[in-house]
Amino acid sequence: MNVARKSKQMDVFEGDCKSVDTDLLVVPAFEGEIAGLSEWSQATGGEIERVAASKEIGGKIYELFLTPIVAGGYRAHRLAVVGLGPSTDFTIDRARRAASAVGLQARHKKIGRVAWVARPPIDSPEMLQAIAEGVTLAEFDSGVYKTFGHDAFEIRDLAVVVNSGARSAAVRAIERGRIIGEWCNVARRLDNEPGNALTTMVFADRLAEIADGDGLTVRILDEKELAKLGMGMLLGVGQGSHNPPRMVVIRHEPSGAAKSPVLGLVGKGITFDTGGISIKPAENMERMKDDMAGGAAVASAMRAIAELKAPIRVVAVIPIAENMPGGHAIRPGDVLKSASGKTVEVLNTDAEGRLILGDALWYAQQLGATHLVDIATLTGAINVALGRVASGLFGTPPEFVELVRKIAEQAGDRCWIMPLFEEYKDQLRSEIADMVNTGGRPGGAITAALFLREFTGGLPWAHLDIAGTAWAEDTRPFMPKGPTGVGVRTLIELAFSEFR
Ligand code: BES
Ligand code: MN
Ligand code: ZN
Repeated sequence: MNVARKSKQMDVFEGDCKSVDTDLLVVPAFEGEIAGLSEWSQATGGEIERVAASKEIGGKIYELFLTPIVAGGYRAHRLAVVGLGPSTDFTIDRARRAASAVGLQARHKKIGRVAWVARPPIDSPEMLQAIAEGVTLAEFDSGVYKTFGHDAFEIRDLAVVVNSGARSAAVRAIERGRIIGEWCNVARRLDNEPGNALTTMVFADRLAEIADGDGLTVRILDEKELAKLGMGMLLGVGQGSHNPPRMVVIRHEPSGAAKSPVLGLVGKGITFDTGGISIKPAENMERMKDDMAGGAAVASAMRAIAELKAPIRVVAVIPIAENMPGGHAIRPGDVLKSASGKTVEVLNTDAEGRLILGDALWYAQQLGATHLVDIATLTGAINVALGRVASGLFGTPPEFVELVRKIAEQAGDRCWIMPLFEEYKDQLRSEIADMVNTGGRPGGAITAALFLREFTGGLPWAHLDIAGTAWAEDTRPFMPKGPTGVGVRTLIELAFSEFR
């Protein structure tokens, strides 16, 4: 597999839609607004007003109606009205999703050239960026291992039509959106890779390739270096596999950036999670190939952060291991010593993510991080709590966590803040070590987060549990089944925010 970003141009036209040479002009419209699109309706010989009157379309979100252009001297052949839902419910993320839905349907219908008409309120830079992100996300192709019967149809020409005078701001916003969308797709491609292809060493190399450019520096630590650092938790998780553990460190240190803050990003990189000796049931175990989605999100975000020239320092730490049973594997009851010095009694070898993340969070501090954000497919329990609609967000202090939540919401990575009440900590008490690695089923996502907090050194810290959101279990109008790239956009935008 290759991780090269597929890079495309998105043309920006200014003013009159009539001169735009495209196969499909896309006109977004709110619920109830369609009957009023009389100018557009004229171009279609009155068809839009007819279908609005007959209630064939009403502007529900993702609803798409295609019809030929027959009048008005347009160069385009067809027009699509896409529903945005009620104007009162409208958000930036709805714009992004509507753009994805149009892109996916255009590919499905093999329409090679598409131009989006940026009508108000979809004409602000934030909205245009979201549109570009959405359309780009729709370009993701998951059939890379298919040797027959696979049609990876691509939209050749994408364009946005903006009001006169708005071109240069629009070009910047759309370019930003495309870059962000393309790095999301790189992360999704990695998530899709099976465990036999994406072994620990291959994954580390791929992340290093991603970080090869735009002034980033990258280092891969091997098992010997990890041992020197005393990373007993990462080494312990990795010791059951023939594929040795690794740790990838990526730094963004723009010249002239202040010494502080340093944003520390940490992403779980389990290339396959069998559960280890506490082995998982066979059903759905194949899904555990994406247990590195947090790590892929962090590396992809780092490259976008560098390409878009975030003005602050960022350091990324991605611990990588394969969680396997075997003669060398750790056993339930084993005690591991973390790099921070704390000892952990491993009650369940399937609670491996928090172990490798604990050492990585500690290391991010050694490298100077002043604020920590980790992202991980950490617990089935978060899936039980929040389903696939929102990621779990944990952390401290509340202002920092709320900032991450707001940024994530606008970025289309919806999160819900979960509590970290001290009483839950009782569940992590060990008889023989500093703590156990699982607090059992009650509040499982919370006790996992509390375990991580033990390794944050009291720094501002946010933890995203993406076990329910990293993989779409069924196809939705704006997102096909498969890897979602959740978190990438949030981490990027965080580096441009005022989080200090
Ligand atoms: N990688 C899993 C979590 C997961 C579950 C991700 C479902 C995606 C979908 C994690 O390593 C794990 O196995 N967690 C255990 C923890 C338990 C043993 C305390 C879990 O959630 O069951
Ligand atoms: Mn596990
Ligand atoms: Zn796992």
